[in-house]
Amino acid sequence: MIFNCELVKTVDDSYDIEVGHSLGDTLVSELSGGLCGKASRFILISDSNVEPLYGREILEKMLSAGLKTDMIVIPAGEKSKTREMKEYIEDKMLSLGCRRDCAVIAVGGGVVTDLSGYVAGTFGRGVPFVNYATTLLSAADASVGGKTAVDTPLATNLIGMFNQPKKVYIDIDTWKTLPQRELSSGLAETIKHGCLGDSELFEYLEKNIEKVFDCDREVCEYISHRNCAVKYKVVMQDERESGLREILNLGHTVGRAVETVSGYRLLHGEAVAIGLVAQARLGLELGFVDERELDRIKALLGRAKLPVRIPEYIDAGELVEKLYTDKKVRNGRLRFVFEDGIGKMKCFGDNVYSLEISKEQAARIIDTMY
Ligand SMILES: NC(=O)c1ccc[n+]([C@@H]2O[C@H](COP(=O)([O-])OP(=O)(O)OC[C@H]3O[C@@H](n4cnc5c(N)ncnc54)[C@H](O)[C@@H]3O)[C@@H](O)[C@H]2O)c1
Repeated sequence: MIFNCELVKTVDDSYDIEVGHSLGDTLVSELSGGLCGKASRFILISDSNVEPLYGREILEKMLSAGLKTDMIVIPAGEKSKTREMKEYIEDKMLSLGCRRDCAVIAVGGGVVTDLSGYVAGTFGRGVPFVNYATTLLSAADASVGGKTAVDTPLATNLIGMFNQPKKVYIDIDTWKTLPQRELSSGLAETIKHGCLGDSELFEYLEKNIEKVFDCDREVCEYISHRNCAVKYKVVMQDERESGLREILNLGHTVGRAVETVSGYRLLHGEAVAIGLVAQARLGLELGFVDERELDRIKALLGRAKLPVRIPEYIDAGELVEKLYTDKKVRNGRLRFVFEDGIGKMKCFGDNVYSLEISKEQAARIIDTMY
């Protein structure tokens, strides 16, 4: 006997991304106005660096507006993006009496937004969440697009879910307190967006990249908009990464592996920068980019103060093995996505954007990267 549970769904997960300056008051007024539906209490999640800079101020604004809010602060850094930290936050929320009546407000960089979005997606089988992004990297990439995850000892982002926020606030003023390395890390994802889908953004960066370090208002607003536009164009067509969304992984096959093998001494964007050069070098061998394009990519990454070589302390053999933890690996075979010159991606067939690469090819490229 078959009992058919017909359950066709039409879901509207649309949300706004607001790019602006000091958006705490806007956040609070929109929460008061029902941004998170019927949520009657809020859990603000932040990290130990962001809490004294922005988290506490937003908490105070929420409390002053009469919003019942508690804050949970996690230690800053990638090492907090774990299943154990998710459990810690969930237990804390339960002990505070949260049930399905709550909403999660993530105030921080990509670690906080990735972890908070995942917590919100499973707490009480799903409660609303909002991202208040305080790094260029989270503005450029992590807080937008609905991918949430935690890392495991094997590799980064292996456990997680697609979960779209109710709104994303990109507060450019918060970049003024970011250390240079963190700004550079965010620029890596911005350069990636130029490489994969926006040659004008790439050229704009070639003219203006130094101004990002001065937090130039016009330049920061421009790159924020272009980052969102590139990412949205891809995600709206393939939210669940069944094909096209793989292109957002440009540079991440080597990047994620380098990040893990470095024991997180390299920041995410620094590792992505190395990965972007690796795919471009491989692309040069395969005829997808030319020498001049490879040089432009390396030069721009260099001006963004990003590494373009693999640090000596990383073992090449271990790195090649780590490539096989990539989520694009199919039937034990490695796959890379490639740019087609600057501003476009290679397509290898109907909805196929990745190409199988042998272990020998990958190992040879890695050897040239020291
Ligand atoms: N979900 C996605 O689609 C996606 C995309 C790209 C990256 N990511 C993830 O994002 C993470 C990296 O993001 P990140 O670089 O923002 O990391 P992060 O959250 O660790 O922030 C970087 C550092 O800057 C500090 N910080 C944050 N805002 C600050 C501010 N305004 N002033 C001073 N210090 C500040 C943090 O405390 C931390 O020490 C990685 O875990 C990566 O996997 C996710």
